[in-house]
Formats: sequence, C-alpha cells, structure tokens
Amino acid sequence: MNNHLLPASGDSGSWSRREFVRTAGAILVPLSAAGAIGAEHARRAAVPQPANGPVAAPIDRPLKLGLIGCGGRGTGAAVQALRADKNTVLVAMSDVFPDRLESSLAGITSEMGDEAAARVQVPPERRHLGFDSYQQVIAGDVDVVLLCSYPAFRPAQLKAAVAAGKHIFAEKPLAVDGPGLRSVLESAAEAKRKNLGLLIGFCWRYNEGMRATFDQVLKGGVGELTTVHTTYHTGTLQKRPRKAAWSDVEFQMRNWWHFTWISGDHIVEQAVHSIDRLAWAMGDKMPAKVNCLGGRAARSGPEHGNVFDHFAAIYEYDDGRRAFHTCRQIDGCPSDNTDYIYGTKGSCTINGWVPTYVIKDHAGQVAWKFDGDAEGAGRMYQNEHNEFFAGLRSGHLINDGERGANSTLMAIMARMAAYTGQTISWDQALNSKESLVPDSLALGEMPTPAVPIPGQTKFS
Ligand SMILES: NC(=O)c1ccc[n+]([C@@H]2O[C@H](COP(=O)([O-])OP(=O)(O)OC[C@H]3O[C@@H](n4cnc5c(N)ncnc54)[C@H](O)[C@@H]3O)[C@@H](O)[C@H]2O)c1
Repeated sequence: MNNHLLPASGDSGSWSRREFVRTAGAILVPLSAAGAIGAEHARRAAVPQPANGPVAAPIDRPLKLGLIGCGGRGTGAAVQALRADKNTVLVAMSDVFPDRLESSLAGITSEMGDEAAARVQVPPERRHLGFDSYQQVIAGDVDVVLLCSYPAFRPAQLKAAVAAGKHIFAEKPLAVDGPGLRSVLESAAEAKRKNLGLLIGFCWRYNEGMRATFDQVLKGGVGELTTVHTTYHTGTLQKRPRKAAWSDVEFQMRNWWHFTWISGDHIVEQAVHSIDRLAWAMGDKMPAKVNCLGGRAARSGPEHGNVFDHFAAIYEYDDGRRAFHTCRQIDGCPSDNTDYIYGTKGSCTINGWVPTYVIKDHAGQVAWKFDGDAEGAGRMYQNEHNEFFAGLRSGHLINDGERGANSTLMAIMARMAAYTGQTISWDQALNSKESLVPDSLALGEMPTPAVPIPGQTKFS
C-alpha cells in the first residue's frame, strides 16, 4: 500500500489542513489544486443523475448562496457551488468564530480569482456570528444554503432551512443522536413536499468509479451478495491545545472531533462514509440490529475528549445476512479504506483512496474492472454540486435526505452498541430518547463528558 497517499496525523491547525486531508478523500491534494481539478472538470459528469427528488419548476434566475459553518468543508463547498453554476453568488456567511469566517471568506475569494468581485459579495453586515447566526443567513435573501457546521447542529439548521423554503446542501453526518435523526427524517420529507433540493455530502455516491462498480455489484456482478466488510482505518486527528482565553465550550468546539456530543464520535463523523458504502452494497436495505465492539486504547487525557479510537460493528439483516464495518483512528497502524464485497460468484474490491474498482471470480481472475478515469476521488465534490445545481435548473431535484439519514443512523446505532456493550436494534436507535446536544449554547463552562464503558453505560 502506498502510504504517502494516506491521511497523516498531527495536523498543523489551519482549516486548509483538514480540507487537504478530508476533501480529497486522502488523495492528498491541497484545496488550491483540488479547486483547479474542479474547474477543469466542471463539465457534467458522464454518470447517471439520481432521480430521487421531486420534479419542480426549472429555475433560471440567479441563485444566491448562504454558507453556514465556515471551516474546511464549508470553504470547499462554497467554491464548488460557485463553480457548479455560473449564475450563483455567495451573499452571506455564518460561523461561531470570527477568525473562521474571515479565513474562509479570504480562501473563497482567493480561489475564485478574477471572478471573486462578481461572485463573492459578503459585506460585513452579511457576516453573521454566534451559535444562532444560521438563523440570520436563513432569514436573509438567499436561495440555497450550504450547511457545513458540526453534526450536532445539522438537525436544527436543516429544519430551519426547510421551514424557510431554501434549497440545501447538508454535509454528512446528519445528526449525532436519535432525536436529531428523527428531526432530519421529518425535514427530508418536508423538503420533498415543498419541492426543495436536498443534497447530502455522502460524496462517494457522486464518484464515477464507485457508481460504475456499485452498479455492477447491484446488477449481480458478484452473484448473489453474501457479505460486505468496509474499513476506515486511519491515524488520529489533530489536537488544538487549550488557550487561556478559551472557555470549556470553545475548547470543545475547536477540538470537536474528540467530543461525542458535537461530532457523534469518529464512527459517525468520519467512518460514516464507509458505512454509507456498506449500505450501498446491500442495496440500501437497513439492518435489523447491530453489535459493536469499541474502546480507546491510544487516546487519553482531556485533549482527546470522550470519543473512542476504534470500533468493530456487526450488522444483522432480517434475511440472516451479516455485514461488517471496522474503523480506527490510531497512529502507527496501517491505514485502509476499502470495501470488500463477497457474493456467490466472486468478490469486489473498492478503494477510493488508492483507486481500485475490480470484480474477480472465485479463481482470482478479473471479471470486470472500471475502465474510466479513476482519478475521481477529488472530483466527486465538484460532481455532487454540478448535479445538484443542474437539478435545480432542470426541475429534476435531488433529495438525498432519507438515504443520508439512514446511513447516519446505521453509524449512530453502532456507536450506541459499542458504548453500552448491548445489541441495539434499528427501532431502538431510531426511537432513542438520549439527546446529546444542549438546547441552548454559549461560550461558557461545560465539563468533558465521561468516556463510556461498555457494560456500564446505559442505553436510553
Ligand atoms: N464529505 C466529506 O468528505 C467531508 C470532509 C470534511 C468534513 N466533512 C463534514 O463537514 C462538516 C464540517 O467539517 P469541517 O472539517 O469543515 O470542520 P471545521 O471545524 O473545519 O469547520 C466547521 C465550522 O463550523 C463552525 N460552526 C460550528 N457550529 C456552528 C454553528 N452553530 N453555526 C455556524 N457555524 C458553526 C465552526 O466554528 C467551524 O468554523 C462535518 O460534519 C464533517 O463531518 C465532510
């Protein structure tokens, strides 16, 4: 395995570092280069458009964009939305922290180059700050909102955007707990009723190689599918040491991936991509229940919050099949992000980091392989926006909401099973009453929640 292609740990701390690692899906392309790739391929991808949303009146007027959550992904998504459609303008932005908003605005302006003056118009009065600043963006004169803050806040922000009749791009995951997930399902259904576009950032669904390969699998390329194992094994994420001026909440927000209440833990925040691909291989049928082993072996201390560093989930389906997902964030161990799919006639191996899209028979002979341009990992971020805006323009809307919510719940239920040490059914997870997110938030005191202990931590 080519380790220099894999995510490194010990990030330097700027938003672009995380974008560098995450946006390119570990094909390590800095934002500037990823942007260049996006521009070069801003053509419509030669892949089928998902017909999963309502049909509405085509829109031909200029579309005003509002960005909520101005970090690495928000900055990238804003540039991709602007590049996807020439008749769009970024007009409003929101973040909790002024430094994040200003560095994002500078990044977007620089990426847009000569076009920035016309396409990036965010004067100080439309730069909104605070936990509730998303409401000001949504209440403003915008047509499309990009929801790129933390998973904890997605359900409330999505609900507000749908209520206001905005078209939406929402990053994954969609929630961190059962109440949030139920709210997302309601919002996704309401978005359909209101003829709103709803694109979810499960970007591998917009990758050409993945689409072609999963299409083969779903058409019986490995015979009858017997089982799937997906992996997301990587190093640890960066730590931002506490500054004297930071409150508890600011420290936790700036180290959000180490706190379950904000991120959902890494199986929900990061590995959910591979759980979504497990769901894809299983024909988007949802499991009946899950067992999951997990813990933290290499993480300790307040800077690591309360998240685990490894999980191994065993999903069980109504028809008796089992499917498996493992994820790890520990330095010094091999990285892997592969989908291993097995059937009665052969097996399929899919790896987006080191582009691999191949089906072999039981004798090990290649039965099929993707012969298109396999460098699609970085490009999928542009593809998803291209298809989303093409849908708004044509009236054939994308609504990924329910599918995105299902994959998110698969990850949440595995975390619940790992934290409690119990078998958790789909219905239990969906109806869980445990709410991780405080009703209202300010930059003040908040003790670090305890690290869960399987067998002692209770399900609720
Ligand atoms: N699809 C992908 O491959 C991919 C890649 C990276 C990140 N992501 C997802 O994107 C989301 C953001 O991740 P990131 O890496 O950009 O994080 P980040 O920390 O770089 O940026 C998030 C920003 O949101 C802001 N924010 C937090 N709460 C807010 C609120 N209530 N209102 C407004 N702004 C708020 C933060 O201050 C921060 O600036 C996460 O859900 C993550 O899982 C997806």
